[in-house]
Formats: sequence, C-alpha cells, structure tokens
Amino acid sequence: IQHITHRLKKTDSIRNKMIQKNLPLEYETMRDEITDIGGIRVICSYINDIYDIVKMLKQQDDLLIVREKDYIANPKPNGYRSYHLIVAIPIFLSSEKQIIPVEIQMRTIAMDFWASLEHQLRYKTAPKYLILQGRVLRILQRVFFMRILRCSRFMKRLKIFIDKTQVTE
Ligand code: GTP
Ligand code: MG
Repeated sequence: IQHITHRLKKTDSIRNKMIQKNLPLEYETMRDEITDIGGIRVICSYINDIYDIVKMLKQQDDLLIVREKDYIANPKPNGYRSYHLIVAIPIFLSSEKQIIPVEIQMRTIAMDFWASLEHQLRYKTAPKYLILQGRVLRILQRVFFMRILRCSRFMKRLKIFIDKTQVTE
C-alpha cells in the first residue's frame, strides 16, 4: 500500500449529483441513492496488492459488500481503471442505527495518476485529501471509525441542509 486517502462528499456535490440524476432532494433518497458520501481511496504499488486487499476485505464479516466493480479487468471506454467496492457501515445516531454506504476505490499509482489528471480536466479543480499512512486493515478500520463518528454529525447537518433546500425551492 502506498497511501490511503478519504473524504466526505460535500453537500453541494451531493445536491448537484441528485439534481443530475433527477432525484428528489430528500434525505431518504440521498441515503439510499448516493453511495459515495463516504469515500476511501487505497493506492497500491501493484495490481496484485489490490486483489489481496479485496480478498481481505471480503473475509471481514463485519463488512457487508453492497456492490463490486472491477474496472481493472474491465476498464471503462475512456481508459479509467480502478477496483470499486461499496461497503455498508452501520452508524449510530442518537435515536437510531443507520447503515450508510462507503465507496472504496483501489488503484495503482499509475491508475491514480491517470484518474486524477482526467478528473482535473473534467472539473478543473484539484481535490484536497487527508493523507493517512500505515498498515492495511488497521488504517481501514481507523478510517471507518472516524467516518462513523463524523458521518453521524454529518448526516444530521445534511438532513437540516436538505430540509432547508426543500423549503426554499
Ligand atoms: P457515479 O454515479 O458517478 O457514482 O457512477 P456509478 O454509480 O456508475 O459508479 P462508478 O463506480 O462507475 O464510479 C464511481 C466513482 O468512480 C466516481 O465518482 C469517480 O470517483 C470514479 N470514476 C468513475 N469513472 C471515472 C472516470 O472515467 N474518470 C475518473 N477520473 N474517475 C472515475
Ligand atoms: Mg458511484
């Protein structure tokens, strides 16, 4: 593993994505349809490392895998390559437990280099990521833990945001 980055999707991006997909701006729709609110990116040196990590993640019985896309074996027509896993993580809000999806993207340094440039060309913005270093599962678990903590606050804020959006539109 070279490095791991993670990010929470900004409310604006969530909103834009929902409008783009013609989804109603509702909290429940967002929770069910936007599967990359939490995003983790794992950059590896070799393709084999990626398949090893996938195997490891699949062996973790506390991680439910919701969706899997192998754009490494099957690159997108534009050349995009990456291994995507969407996993379900339980988060605990004050009154209830919710399952939220987290998108894990795994790619090599070369694939990441390509994807970053292609993304910049498309959006003309450079994303800011918080970089973590360390060993695979420990980091992933720590990241998940931080996600869970932050997501619960984030989800509440987001609910307020979306409620407001509905009133003003
Ligand atoms: P979204 O609605 O964008 O999430 O697409 P999807 O639901 O079909 O999921 P997919 O797995 O195809 O893509 C999800 C994420 O992968 C995107 O949000 C990007 O971060 C990344 N991605 C997918 N395709 C490309 C691409 O062509 N170029 C780049 N730079 N990133 C891509
Ligand atoms: Mg997606």
